Amino acid sequence: AEDNEGTVKQQLSKLFETSLRMTVPDEPDLEPLVVKCTGKFGDYQCNNAMSCWAKVKGKKTEFKGPPSIGQAIANNLPESEMIESCSIAGPGFVNVVLPNQWITKSIQKMLEKGVGIWAPKLPVSRAVVDFSSPNIAKEMHVGHLRSTIIGDTIARMLEYSNVEVLRRNHVGDWGTQFGMLIEYMFEKFPDWENAGEQAIGDLQAFYKASKLKFDADPVFKEKAQQAVVLLQGGNEKYRKAWSMICAISHGGNEKYRKAWSTICEISRKEFHQVYERLGISLEEKGESFYNPYIPKVLEGLSNQGLIVESEGARVIVIEGKQIPLIVVKSDGGYNYASTDLTALWYRLNEEKAEWIVYVTDVGQKLHFEMFFTAAKLAGWLPADEKLYPKTSHVDFGLVLGDDKKRFRTRSSEVVRLVDLLDEAKTRCKAELVERGKALEWTAEELEQIAEAIGYGAVKYADLKNNRSTNYTFSFDQMLNDKGNTAVYLQYAHARICSIIRKSGKDIEELKNTGTIVLGLPEERSLGLHLLQFAEVVEEACLSLLPNVLCEYLYNLSEHFTRFYAECKVNGTPEETSRLLLCEATAVVMRQCFHLLGIVPVFKI
Ligand code: ARG
Repeated sequence: AEDNEGTVKQQLSKLFETSLRMTVPDEPDLEPLVVKCTGKFGDYQCNNAMSCWAKVKGKKTEFKGPPSIGQAIANNLPESEMIESCSIAGPGFVNVVLPNQWITKSIQKMLEKGVGIWAPKLPVSRAVVDFSSPNIAKEMHVGHLRSTIIGDTIARMLEYSNVEVLRRNHVGDWGTQFGMLIEYMFEKFPDWENAGEQAIGDLQAFYKASKLKFDADPVFKEKAQQAVVLLQGGNEKYRKAWSMICAISHGGNEKYRKAWSTICEISRKEFHQVYERLGISLEEKGESFYNPYIPKVLEGLSNQGLIVESEGARVIVIEGKQIPLIVVKSDGGYNYASTDLTALWYRLNEEKAEWIVYVTDVGQKLHFEMFFTAAKLAGWLPADEKLYPKTSHVDFGLVLGDDKKRFRTRSSEVVRLVDLLDEAKTRCKAELVERGKALEWTAEELEQIAEAIGYGAVKYADLKNNRSTNYTFSFDQMLNDKGNTAVYLQYAHARICSIIRKSGKDIEELKNTGTIVLGLPEERSLGLHLLQFAEVVEEACLSLLPNVLCEYLYNLSEHFTRFYAECKVNGTPEETSRLLLCEATAVVMRQCFHLLGIVPVFKI
């Protein structure tokens, strides 16, 4: 971490900040606006001149307009080895060209010390990422797959940026569905304590039947709602029934596990299998965990005068919203919102998280807006969105099928996540066999590589889209080895590895003895793109948009292709330098794969 000097943008920003303070001393709050150049006149540009002019115009000043301010900003830049030259363009844009030497030095240092030295510095040191979060006894849908994949990537990017991440599975183990299930169990199986687990048998059927009754029978509905209240109030019988259902779903209790051959358990286990296969670690702290804290938290809010009575319920009024945020239902029970408010309180006060990130479908947007606002009203969070502690809702759209409707199987069942992964793998394996790899590799290698490519393809197909939009799930598309797919990128990476292998050179030794020289334009633009990795991660973290990283990775492969087309590597005088550029590209690609949760393949 000591070696970490921040991203190129951050380092340049520091220089420009110094210059701005000298150029316009009366405006000490001006923040440097440094961006990548779009044109050909430089690598980065500082865009402050126009807004500076707006501030000093009319005052007595030496400046005649934005260009002259731009010139002054350039002149006042401190001496630095990261600036080759500066020029002014248009209305005072200050263009900066980085010296080749500086670029190569940074890449060589990265090769020597590892890609960790490029990690961006973020304004937080501990974050909660609340993701995946399926509901016990309810359907697990592809939406949860999206949450799992997107949340994991966000967690990985933050972790790379030296943020301590509390990965939280906010499992729905406490919702109203339990009232319904418990009450139905009491009714159907009065002897539930002895025979419940055998009697229930198929949980999905059980869940469906109890839901039917809940919707059709007002008396039952009433009872089910009361059951939730009793459960939450700590009533022993109800808690026992609840913990039985949970223990089974959690797969924790051996006795129940055996007996409970239901879809719930299957899907639960299935989910754990999915986590395992996808290489995802997360810690379960379900809704029930926060239940004991709810009364105290609501009492605090009540004392602040935030909670009022409305139609028998207790609510927080949110300005500008049609409906208030209900925190105690009219039957006295707590709900999703009371749990989320309490979980937020816990995360801020007990876990000391500075950034709490929630990954769910866009359908829950209003819920998050409302309880975030409530937390601001309570003074838990600063009103200014730029300040920490902060909450963010990472929303995402639907997964669509070929018919552009919600993704379902042919028999219009919910798509099972494991089946998706299985099919991706099977298709990859078939393709590899087709290419004769079964003869080349061991059976184990074939399995591993098919998994790496197949699962990676599923993840990348999801992550490469702006998460807020819906996307169409298509195996044909995601498994294509051309275009912006993980398969293509895996091939690109494996090809680089093979270039290095075929050189016969010891790359570790070259890292110590060789130097990189950026002679041709393709070499330079590849080098510069490599250097920009860190600021892309920073941007992806701060905007919580993994597609930004995917785009970078795809562009990196294109930069490499252009480089390789122009620059012969093996057997040339530039061989060492170019091999090191190959290696640096492979290292950064692998780091991108890692952040996207994709296992890299070294040969295909
Ligand atoms: N269990 C919820 C669902 O399936 C997602 C929970 C998200 N996290 C939260 N703190 N609300 O929709």
